[in-house]
Amino acid sequence: MTESALACLILAAGRGTRMHSDLPKVMHPVAGLPILGHVMKVAQALVPEKIIVVVGPAMEQVQTFVAPHAVAIQKTQRGTADAVRAATDQLQNFAGDIAVLYGDAALMTKEALQELRRVHAENAAAITISAFTPDDAAGYGRILLDDRSRVMGIIEAADATPQQKAITLCNGGAILFSAPKVWPLLDKIENHNAKHEFYLTDLVELAYRAGLTTAYAMFDNEAVQGVNDRVELAAAEALMQRRLRLAAMRGGVTMQDPDSVFLAHDTLLGRDVTLGPNIVFGTGCVVGDHVHIRGFCHIEGAEIAAGSIVGPFARLRAGTKLGTNTHIGNFVELKNSLVGAGSKINHLSYIGDAEIGSTSNIGAGAITCNYDGFRKQRTIIGNNAFIGSNAALVAPVTIGNGAFVGAGSVITNNVPADTLAVARGRQVNLENWGGRQKNNKKDTKSS
Ligand code: UD1
Ligand code: MG
Repeated sequence: MTESALACLILAAGRGTRMHSDLPKVMHPVAGLPILGHVMKVAQALVPEKIIVVVGPAMEQVQTFVAPHAVAIQKTQRGTADAVRAATDQLQNFAGDIAVLYGDAALMTKEALQELRRVHAENAAAITISAFTPDDAAGYGRILLDDRSRVMGIIEAADATPQQKAITLCNGGAILFSAPKVWPLLDKIENHNAKHEFYLTDLVELAYRAGLTTAYAMFDNEAVQGVNDRVELAAAEALMQRRLRLAAMRGGVTMQDPDSVFLAHDTLLGRDVTLGPNIVFGTGCVVGDHVHIRGFCHIEGAEIAAGSIVGPFARLRAGTKLGTNTHIGNFVELKNSLVGAGSKINHLSYIGDAEIGSTSNIGAGAITCNYDGFRKQRTIIGNNAFIGSNAALVAPVTIGNGAFVGAGSVITNNVPADTLAVARGRQVNLENWGGRQKNNKKDTKSS
């Protein structure tokens, strides 16, 4: 039992009309990655010799996404067999097996495809299909078995007789076939069917009739679910989130309310991370060991080093890097900023395009004024600095090591190390002002 060399052909040229979208269907994100990206990830996990994606002619965005993998252009969408034929130049002389995957199967797994390959090799089959038993067989192709339980063919729902419609074993979509044995049969597929399309599924009957060995591997229902409309997109997102949460918890993350934590496909969480309720991760986040993220945080493109505490209600935007043991508190927004080890920004701050050293303290309401209306400017704050509450640091500006900025200051000039800078109107106390005011105005007081 040996597995042959593999090529993966991913069909993604369908129009996806039921999405009612300007974006090609396969580019809609699930857990922050286009659906097609998920399919490509599982294809890559099989370490194939090549991956080719079939796209429509006006799908530049998909082509860009697919690079550096090859694309084949299907000029008009005339069915799944026609889509496979679009890759004739790249594949007709391929000596190994070809796995055809559907580009909208966001929840396909490496394990399911490995099972497909295992069954294929075990049976020394020429063509092996994926089978599953959905709760509602509705629009799926029904698998026809002969009296020895060999796959005779697939009948599409639109062409099935009432008896065939009663079959519960359905075609999951993924198909694996030996290129030298089966590719020549592709040309024999015709479009004499209800949809006038060239069905890839007809290949199975052609192979069976030619005396080739056919087989099927059982897939679980989740792995074959396609995304055809926004309702199915939401369902795929929910299932993907469930997978990601389970993987995180199994890897040593505590989640107080897993169902309210949203992860991205690439979120990396360390050991003993604790996540409170209602946290959203965008893509590109790395969270170190023993980090505690309290509830209601929104985090994307951020790195949080070990031992830090974030939130509740914090927003970390792209380019944020927190050193070890930092404290980021409520209603703090950080963007494109480095925060050194042990520094604290605990309340109501906006820190953008800044570099803060270690063990510095940024007071409540302190902000960096990073945008002058034309360009973003940087704020540099040293180690052990203290920025008083409600200070406005007008960038570009540098605050030295150990420097202090008085509360309420508007800082426009650099502050040298160990210096106190106060930049606000000096307080004036006028004695008895209240009493005089009362006397002067008492005749004119309105009721
Ligand atoms: C297909 C199968 C059906 C199976 C089901 C599983 C066929 C004929 N039928 O039906 O047996 O139960 O999937 O989900 O294959 N595509 C192209 N070019 C085309 C047409 C489609 O690239 O001309 C792509 C689509 O982008 C999609 C995939 O092929 O990713 C499947 O096409 P779709 O129309 O969704 O097939 P189903 O009707 O769902
Ligand atoms: Mg489909």
